[in-house]
Amino acid sequence: MIQDPLNDQLGRPLQDLRISVTDRCNFRCQYCMPEEIFGKDYAFLPKKDILSFEEIVKVVSLMVPFGIKKLRITGGEPLMRKDLPELIASLGKIEGIKDIALTTNGSLLKKHIYSLKEARLKRINVSLDTLDDQIFNQLNSRAYKVSDVLEGIESAASAGIQVKVNMVVQKGINDHDIVPMARYFRGTPHILRFIEFMDVGNFNDWNLEKVVSKKEIVQLINEQMPLEPVEANYFGEVASRYKYKGTDEEIGVISSVSDSFCSSCTRARLSANGQLYTCLFATKGHDLRKLIRSRAKDQEITDEIKRIWYGRHDRYSDERLLQTNRKERKKIEMSYIGG
Ligand code: GTP
Ligand code: 5AD
Ligand code: SF4
Ligand code: SF4
Repeated sequence: MIQDPLNDQLGRPLQDLRISVTDRCNFRCQYCMPEEIFGKDYAFLPKKDILSFEEIVKVVSLMVPFGIKKLRITGGEPLMRKDLPELIASLGKIEGIKDIALTTNGSLLKKHIYSLKEARLKRINVSLDTLDDQIFNQLNSRAYKVSDVLEGIESAASAGIQVKVNMVVQKGINDHDIVPMARYFRGTPHILRFIEFMDVGNFNDWNLEKVVSKKEIVQLINEQMPLEPVEANYFGEVASRYKYKGTDEEIGVISSVSDSFCSSCTRARLSANGQLYTCLFATKGHDLRKLIRSRAKDQEITDEIKRIWYGRHDRYSDERLLQTNRKERKKIEMSYIGG
């Protein structure tokens, strides 16, 4: 299947594509789409600027020969995109695609679970930062409750879909929920992953003091429920895995700040408006939409993708703390490329 494995300037192959299908979201997480910025007057992408399902399928089909095997559907909130299960079903039919997963805030899962199962979706990662409704209302959404997300998780599990739970940890905001979250999800089939707060986008007011490091997270849990490290499932897995000693119950920690993983980063990102990004912290994308809509031949699009990945040398998280112009750098918003 792979005609031409494509390595970037740091020897990293192209294996995963994260596809954002909308820049809209029904939550306003403070660290991603703060309400003051993403308010009533915020200009979201107009429909005509957003890639159609056919266009997305085309990009993926053209990338498969380079080694793309794994797709992740993101947003904004991907379930805000009309008929999303149709896209998932079409992507699943592309020869060479081995894994399709969805990252969602969970609030609309219950409503769509039947059609997602019909579309043969096997894996979902659900964001949940706290079990406390008051914090959830301040941090994530005023319109929903923790129970809406938990019900979404359970409906997915009942449909036979594997669920991981993502908790972004911020010091002084929800770090007191680390151990309660670990206890809550221990003994369930869902793998809970703690994520170090990152400086994505331009509005999340990040600083190092707000980060709870992997070491601190593991230490906190280990004091109550002893942990042992486990090997990664595959090259380039973002989460460091741990098991509760003497069990098969697993947690993960994603440590892009304290222990970055750029050297094994095999991920490209496609935004809802068809820009290809080679890093989560990129300042600029490559306009595949323009190329596709100019009726370029497949070979021309393939050549462009090849040129983009071949020229890649991003390693932002490795370099984060060395950068003196970090604050001035205008990064792409998280809601455009889905993390
Ligand atoms: P799995 O396939 O289930 O391991 O998914 P995943 O962990 O790669 O995807 P998910 O969307 O659940 O992302 C979890 C966290 O990892 C989010 O905070 C993402 O922003 C972060 N993440 C994923 N890929 C990268 C990456 O390439 N760089 C950085 N810095 N963070 C990433
Ligand atoms: N730092 C770390 N993770 C983040 N996410 C959103 N914003 C941030 C941030 N600033 C997470 C979401 C979701 C995933 C795609 O990225 O909670 O689980
Ligand atoms: Fe929406 Fe996810 Fe961003 Fe929260 S982190 S505002 S749920 S896209
Ligand atoms: Fe990949 Fe950029 Fe994340 Fe490093 S910071 S792991 S290069 S996306």
